[in-house]
Amino acid sequence: MGLRGYFDEGYSGDGLVGSYLNGVFEERRFPPEWVRGITTRTTTMVNSVDWVYTRLTVDGEQLDLAKSKVTDFSRRLDLKTGILTRAFTWHTASGKTLRIVFSRFVSMDAPHLGCQRVTFEALDFSGPVEVTAGLDFSPIHEDFGKNVWTCPRKGRENGLVAILGQTESSGHRVFSSFRLDFASPIATEFVEDEKLVGLRFALPLRQGEPASFDKIVVNAAEKDRQVATDEVWSRGLALAASYRDVSFDGAKEAHRAYWSNVWETLDVTIDGDPADQQGVRFCIFQLHQTYHGQDPHLNIGAKGLTGEIYWGATFWDTETYCLPFYLFSNPKAAKNLLLFRYLTLPQARERAIEQDCLGACYPFVTIDGTESCRVWQHGNLQVHATAAVAYAVWHYVSVSGDTDLLHREGIEMLLEISRYFASRGGWNSRTGEYGFFGVMGPDEYHMMVHNNCYTNYMVKKVFEQTLAVMEAMGREAPDLLEEAKKKVALDPAEPEAWKVMAEKMRIPLQQGTGIYEQHDGYFDLPHIDLSTLDQFPIYYYWAYDRIFRYDMVKQPDVVLMLFLYSHDFSLEAKRINYEYYVARCIHESSLSPAVHSIVAAEVGNYADAVKYARYGNRLDLDNYNRNTREGLHTTSLSAAWMNVVHGFGGMRSDGDILSFNPSMPGHWRSFSFRILYRGAILEMKVDRESVAVKVLRGPAVPLQLYGREYSVGTEEIRMDLPGERLGEILVRE
Ligand code: BGC
Repeated sequence: MGLRGYFDEGYSGDGLVGSYLNGVFEERRFPPEWVRGITTRTTTMVNSVDWVYTRLTVDGEQLDLAKSKVTDFSRRLDLKTGILTRAFTWHTASGKTLRIVFSRFVSMDAPHLGCQRVTFEALDFSGPVEVTAGLDFSPIHEDFGKNVWTCPRKGRENGLVAILGQTESSGHRVFSSFRLDFASPIATEFVEDEKLVGLRFALPLRQGEPASFDKIVVNAAEKDRQVATDEVWSRGLALAASYRDVSFDGAKEAHRAYWSNVWETLDVTIDGDPADQQGVRFCIFQLHQTYHGQDPHLNIGAKGLTGEIYWGATFWDTETYCLPFYLFSNPKAAKNLLLFRYLTLPQARERAIEQDCLGACYPFVTIDGTESCRVWQHGNLQVHATAAVAYAVWHYVSVSGDTDLLHREGIEMLLEISRYFASRGGWNSRTGEYGFFGVMGPDEYHMMVHNNCYTNYMVKKVFEQTLAVMEAMGREAPDLLEEAKKKVALDPAEPEAWKVMAEKMRIPLQQGTGIYEQHDGYFDLPHIDLSTLDQFPIYYYWAYDRIFRYDMVKQPDVVLMLFLYSHDFSLEAKRINYEYYVARCIHESSLSPAVHSIVAAEVGNYADAVKYARYGNRLDLDNYNRNTREGLHTTSLSAAWMNVVHGFGGMRSDGDILSFNPSMPGHWRSFSFRILYRGAILEMKVDRESVAVKVLRGPAVPLQLYGREYSVGTEEIRMDLPGERLGEILVRE
């Protein structure tokens, strides 16, 4: 569950409230296009129940921060405990002064549970505050311009107030219920409206004596239309009843304990720049609360649960940008992200057929595994999204060692993905090379290109890895391999063909300069000097097709390849290609700066590394892109973590063992991070003189530090920071 933009007491001013349950969506259907292959159904995560609904009235005046007189306002999100607290003093029209504090949290310990406490202190009077606490399904979904809920059931049963909402077209149901806890018994009156249920009561206040009430909310989603309404209702009531003994303080303790564990085991510290420190912790906090990793049917939306833009949908961002964070922070979540793709393999198979291909084509945009992107240039041409799934399988298995997943679900995905790419690619009739024609790489400012270097390279690796896994399974798990082959009805000629395709894959590389050409013909494009541009984002100001006519790139493409398969490329190749492409990159995706920062740190361009890391760190806190109203850039928040761990920490996880090549940005005194790796907590500390690494708990970790191999246990290994890994002092602008 996620809430955004809510003043619990209601607000008549400008705002965009959102209450989302991961995976609950509305769908829209479109008539088939006159061309084949464009999706005719889209899904949108939908704004659901306002469960913090609280209306407060004193002497007939309803509190509304857009109209009421208020002083001493503060709103604080405590990252240590996960509690949001808002406090202010209300000066009523009738001359009374009332201090009000709202505290709330969505439990990290019990995913159905939300808790709210409202505390009052009458500063200069004694008398009642009139309260209505409720559950309201009437907020609109801004993008739809309407509300999509009907409420077939509502009522008050066994001390619980409950309501059932049902969406218009998808038929998803959300059960929501609450209970109020008071210090001493208070008479309450049940109130209801078409889409609302609540309890109305008068809370007596005595001057100078704080009084409060707690609201304990239980929400649950049912997406299966076949389940009868009565059944959803009674299951919801039973679930809510199981939380009968939960108190605000008890739930808060369990929630706080979850966060203490997160910070104790996995904090990232930065000494020397409080803004960077706050930024990175904010990002880590958001990632943990966005995806707990308990349910493989759920994934991470590009905006998490914080806004309507991008429809609550999952992109290739999950595998490419988020997975690294979870791999080293929450292995169960990492595994469930992969299982999400396995569970949606049937939809990916159907999508491949829609594209006149074979195997499995994973969607570019999805909530439920189906393609939800009707902008066909992206939805149909960004085939690298499917390669990202295979990359994730390989990355997950090589970091976790979970061969069980590889041998059961992983191999099936790899076979189907390889089969897809073998049917989607083609042979150059002149050179005899294999490649991809009519695609869009990660750089969305060039479409319908041939032989996008990133795509070709990623697919070459997909073929090679699939073949390597088949070979290894032939030795280690022959029965499971046979089972998987049978399941997908593999023809022995297919792996033979993949081998040749991998060998003959076109990787466009300019001889002499060592620059990889982003796609065939890229070097011929008219050059644009980015310093002459001053209108951002460019797609607001330039006609769509004008954007495609230059060598300007939106986000890392070749540079991303150099990071994902870091061990395959020399430092010199990285340096040359970084310098070439950074001069052409406009960073109009929030996914862009982080990867540039990581590669810049590797090649010793510390000024760039710091500049881009700062951007990623505080993107939403400082609203750099002037679009935080649209929601957090959740998938790029993991970039902040990557900038420390992969960037300045220099960690690479694409080799046989973890390798570290730390550097020290000039404006920090020191930094440290901890990662989970195969049952161990590994801590890396870097300051301006030295690098220290040790295992805090668990087995020894084999790793490479500056190219030398160590087995790191609980005894610290410390060495001098090499001079060339120390950045010059930079002053924050
Ligand atoms: C980026 C895509 C990304 C999407 C969602 C776009 O702006 O270009 O690469 O998948 O945002 O984050």
